[in-house]
Amino acid sequence: MIGAEEEALVLDVLRRKEPFRYYGPDFKPTPPMAAQLEKEFREYIGTKYALGVTSGSAALEVAMAAAGIGPGHEVIVNAWSWIACFTSIVRVGARPVLAEVNDTLNLDPKEIARLTTPKTRAVLVIHYQGVAAELEEIVLEAHKRGLYVIEDCAQSLGTRYRGRQIGTWGDLATFSFQYNKVMTSGEGGMVTTRDQRLYERAVRYHDLGNYRPYHATIAASHEPAFAGGQFRMSELTAAMALAQLRKVDRLWTHCRALQARILPRLAGLKGLKTRRVPDSAGDFGFEIYLMFDDPAHVASFREKLDARNVNCGQRTGTYPQYNRDYVKNGLAHTPSASPFREFKEWPAPGYRAEDFPATEALTKRFVALAIGWLYTAEDADYIADSIVAVHAEVMGG
Ligand SMILES: Cc1ncc(COP(=O)(O)O)c(C=O)c1O
Repeated sequence: MIGAEEEALVLDVLRRKEPFRYYGPDFKPTPPMAAQLEKEFREYIGTKYALGVTSGSAALEVAMAAAGIGPGHEVIVNAWSWIACFTSIVRVGARPVLAEVNDTLNLDPKEIARLTTPKTRAVLVIHYQGVAAELEEIVLEAHKRGLYVIEDCAQSLGTRYRGRQIGTWGDLATFSFQYNKVMTSGEGGMVTTRDQRLYERAVRYHDLGNYRPYHATIAASHEPAFAGGQFRMSELTAAMALAQLRKVDRLWTHCRALQARILPRLAGLKGLKTRRVPDSAGDFGFEIYLMFDDPAHVASFREKLDARNVNCGQRTGTYPQYNRDYVKNGLAHTPSASPFREFKEWPAPGYRAEDFPATEALTKRFVALAIGWLYTAEDADYIADSIVAVHAEVMGG
C-alpha cells in the first residue's frame, strides 16, 4: 500500500530540505510533518496527546519512563508477546512478570489479581494481531490496584473495543510503524495518552530531557527536566507515516469484508473453533486463527493448506518469552542491570515453560491465516473453500 501519496509527502520534505522535526535550514520553527502526523493520529485514536518516536520498541521504553517505572518495580506482561514488550521493561531496570494468555490469545485479566505485589507499577497489555484484549476487565483490575495500564497497540492500530479505538482505554498506549504492521514507515512509532503529565514526561524522555517550544504549544510544562534518551522521529519518517495513516480505515474495511466471507463458512466445523474475539465488531480482521481441539491436527492441517497455496503459519512473529535466550539466561547488558540478579536459581518460577500451562497449550493449538491488503473476494472464497476441504481430509468433515 505504498504509492503516490507517500512519494509526494516524502518529496515535500526533501524539497524543503527539512528532515529534522524541530527546525529547518533557516531555523524557522516547526517543520510540519511530525506535528501533522501527531495531530491526525490523536484525532484518529480519539485521545489528547500523541508523540512520534523512532520505533514501537522506543515507544514502549518511553511509556515505561513516562510512568516513572524503574529499578525495584515490576510490570505484568503477557508471556506470549513480542520481544520488545519484555526488553522495554528490563531496559528501564524493572522486572517483567509474565502472565498467562487466555483463548483470546491476549492477557488473561484474572492474572492481574494473581501477580500483583507491592512492587507492581503497571500492566503492559498487548493487543495481539488485530484483536483487542479484554480491556474493560483489565483496566478495572489494574486501576483498582493503583496500577498503570500501558496498551501495546503495535500490532493492532485501528482495532476497536466497545466502539472505541484501542489505545484510549489505558493510561498510555504505544504503536509501531515497522514494516510488518498495519501502517509502515519502515521504522517508527507513537506514544499516546490523555494525561498532560505523562505527555510531558514522555516528551522529555524521548528528547534527552528537553521540552522544546513546539511541545509547549501543545501543553504547558510543569515537570522538572530529567535525563532521557533520544528517540525523536524524523520528518521523513513522519511524512511516510502520515500518508499511511490516511489509508488505515480503507485497509480496515477491506480486511473486515474479506473476513466476513470466510468466518460463516467455518462455523460448525467439528473440532475447530476460531480465536475468541472479545468484540467482533472491533476486530481488524487481518488474521484468522483456527483453534483446534486436538493439537495433533495442527501440523497436517497447515501442510495441506500450504499445499493449496493458502498463506498460513503456526507462529506469527510472537513467542513465549520464557523460551527466549535472554530469559533463559536472565542477562541484561551488564550483571548489575539485570532485574533478575536477586534470584539464587535461574530460571526462577514464573520464567519457565512449565509455569504457563494455559499459554503452552493454547499456542500449540492454532493455525494463523493472513488476510492480506491485496487479497480479493475470490481469494477469500478460495481460503474458505480450502479450509472446508482440508477439514474434511484431516478431520473427516
Ligand atoms: C506487540 C509489539 N510490540 C512492540 C513491537 C516493537 O515495534 P518496533 O519493531 O517498531 O520496535 C512490535 C513489533 O513487532 C510488536 O509486535
